[in-house]
Amino acid sequence: MLQETITGDQSARSWADYVVPQCWESFTVDDHAVWDLLFARQVELLGTRVVSAFLDGIDLLKLSHPGVPDVEGLNAILEPRTGWRTVAVAGLVPDDVFFAMLSERVFPVGNFIRTREQLDYLEAPDCFHDMFGHIPMLAHHDYAEMTRHVGELGVAAIVAGEGHRAARLYWHSVEFGLAKEHGELKILGAGLASSFGESHLSLESDEVERLPFSVRRAVNTPYKHDAFQPRYLVSQSLEKTIAGMLALTAEELLQL
Ligand SMILES: [Fe+2]
Repeated sequence: MLQETITGDQSARSWADYVVPQCWESFTVDDHAVWDLLFARQVELLGTRVVSAFLDGIDLLKLSHPGVPDVEGLNAILEPRTGWRTVAVAGLVPDDVFFAMLSERVFPVGNFIRTREQLDYLEAPDCFHDMFGHIPMLAHHDYAEMTRHVGELGVAAIVAGEGHRAARLYWHSVEFGLAKEHGELKILGAGLASSFGESHLSLESDEVERLPFSVRRAVNTPYKHDAFQPRYLVSQSLEKTIAGMLALTAEELLQL
């Protein structure tokens, strides 16, 4: 996930400085049980309320295998497929680092999992949010390329002092986007796909706004990073959003 405010030193800093060993063997029996509990609960909750590419990705990447996935095992399937790989990080990374990773087809995943006592409350995205929410879609070739492109846009926007534009674009699609599929409203974003509380709310609540997605609207719509979203942007289709995002240049992003 991203933070709305771009802060910190934007000088030359390598994303590799933020990579840590996953230390998969350090996950306890209870950590693995928490993953299994979250996985079973979320798959049942989502059913077919999520874009089909997400469910395809779960199968392709064998994420239903019990226990916290190990980064190397995941990469052994993901990297030959779309060129993406995951790396472990200790927590939220700064936006410039995050976008630089995406631009090189690297996705950071937390090297920790929430506790059983905090199943539905997260201060920082853990490996369940990152691996269950994000990684399945990175097995989809065009979506994977779109995500890389968003990384490039993010790097350029931050250099121009306009990082919030890319952050909003990312937020309203990759993180909290909805999408139509065969006329039905589906979850697209990882923040929704991995959330027990917000997945149904985003689709079914009468209390939230749902507006058609466009890159212009996404870039100009602020978001909340510490609460359920008051509004969601709905893609006409996954394919149209991918095409629209891939067509967006960094120069255009700064003008929208
Ligand atoms: Fe996320």
